[in-house]
Amino acid sequence: MRTCAFIRTSLALLVSAILISCGNGRAKYVIGVSQCSEDSWRQKLKEELEMATFFNDRVKLVFTCANDDSRLQERQIDSLVQSGVDLLIVSPNQVDLLSDEIDRAYDAGIPVILFDRKTDSPKYTAFMGADNFQIGEMLGHYIAAKTGDKGNVVEIGGLDGSSPAQERHDGFVHAMKRHPNIRIAGYGIGDWTEESGVSAMKEILENYDGEIDVVFGGNDRMAAGAKKAMQRAGRDCRKTLFVGVDALPTDDGGIRMVEDGILTASAIYPTHGDELMLLAIDILEGRPFKRETTMISSVVTEDNAPILLLQHEEVMRQAKYLKTMHLQAGKMHESIRLQQIIIGLVLLFALIITSLLSFYVRAYRQKHILNSQLQEEKEKVERQRDELEEQRDRLIELSLTGQTDDELQKNSEQQSRKDNDFMMKFCNAVERSLSNPDLSVEDISTELCMSRAQLYRRVKALTGKSPVEIIRQMRLAKADKLLSDSSLNVSEIAYRVGFSSSSYFSKCYRDQFGKLPTDVNKPNK
Ligand code: FRU
Repeated sequence: MRTCAFIRTSLALLVSAILISCGNGRAKYVIGVSQCSEDSWRQKLKEELEMATFFNDRVKLVFTCANDDSRLQERQIDSLVQSGVDLLIVSPNQVDLLSDEIDRAYDAGIPVILFDRKTDSPKYTAFMGADNFQIGEMLGHYIAAKTGDKGNVVEIGGLDGSSPAQERHDGFVHAMKRHPNIRIAGYGIGDWTEESGVSAMKEILENYDGEIDVVFGGNDRMAAGAKKAMQRAGRDCRKTLFVGVDALPTDDGGIRMVEDGILTASAIYPTHGDELMLLAIDILEGRPFKRETTMISSVVTEDNAPILLLQHEEVMRQAKYLKTMHLQAGKMHESIRLQQIIIGLVLLFALIITSLLSFYVRAYRQKHILNSQLQEEKEKVERQRDELEEQRDRLIELSLTGQTDDELQKNSEQQSRKDNDFMMKFCNAVERSLSNPDLSVEDISTELCMSRAQLYRRVKALTGKSPVEIIRQMRLAKADKLLSDSSLNVSEIAYRVGFSSSSYFSKCYRDQFGKLPTDVNKPNK
């Protein structure tokens, strides 16, 4: 019983271990990332977030991109919420248009991290991004320093209604207040793309033909687009300062543009996907976190652009190694899991075999015990039956005491022939039914058309033995012959000669021949 419980517990443990190892690949947290646009800056952020999952492999990221369409982003946020994400990272395209959806997610208990852009609602768990007001202000002072506090500036702002566009503008205007000799000669609105920078500047040039000393773009792409528009309009740009924001270290990014002389300067607008992931994990794991995280920016000029690019190259090289290591670790992890599953299955198989074997052994033992009990029962019944027959014979004998039988006393020749005939018939009848364990004296007497008492008297008178004794002797004599002549074993022989219990047979055989049947019937015979 205890073995059974042990096997059952082991099986349960094993199956759960296998299930756990199979289910190991399932993510613990699903983080939905709702991006407002698709561009190099957001691609860099995406790669950093993905790389951060190397260290948090229980996190699954689901990205959506709204292509600068606030309505589309509304729907994407709703569907991320409905899909059951554990946390939402959002860069809301525009301040007021997405507040409702984000509020709903927040109210539904999903932690919301606003990243880079803001809404006009206080319903968010944390914000992480650069200080766009400070960036605008910093570039305003940089421009003032570069121009000697004078000149005409054209500003191309970012997407109307998006928080960085507004804050960069506000910061820039705030700085300009301290430099009254710098004149804002024109203001155009773009949508963060290069083309929008081209068309905004084109429009400004249609109404303004004065000097442009500085172009301040809401980002690098728009600043570069504005420069293209001026060049296309035949403006001499050699003395104009082009300043933007983002300073991406990528091939098409602002740092390279500064190094190539397309832009004069840019402000770093950090992505820091790794930090964003740490913040998300802290929130998900219930650890303390900072609600507002401001990422530091800095101005990139021709002086530091080359070193920044070199550093970026180094970072990329390391990232490549990291990816390769991650890939190898992933393969190793997979093969370990496979091995675990195989070992688990082998153990499971071994356990099943062991439990089957133990079940079989128990059943076999049970059967053995039952068989011996049955044998004992049979032996008892058979012995009792013989005793009964003998008692009955004794009764017949008693009833005959004192009686004379004329026929039996005659000892004529004719009589002796009759006696021989009778004994022959009797022996033949017994011989025919020798293998029948239920053969009784009644059966024989009926066959010989006489009563049991008549049969008894006659057999007793002729042989000095009762019919029961004669029958047993015949059985044992046949058995003895079979034991020495045939290849049957003791039990088979016992059944052949009408014993239903082989142990009782052995006992009778020993009484008759003074030795056991196994002494005659050797197994290798
Ligand atoms: C990228 C981008 C950047 C800009 C930022 C503002 O999508 O347009 O160029 O600095 O978004 O959120």
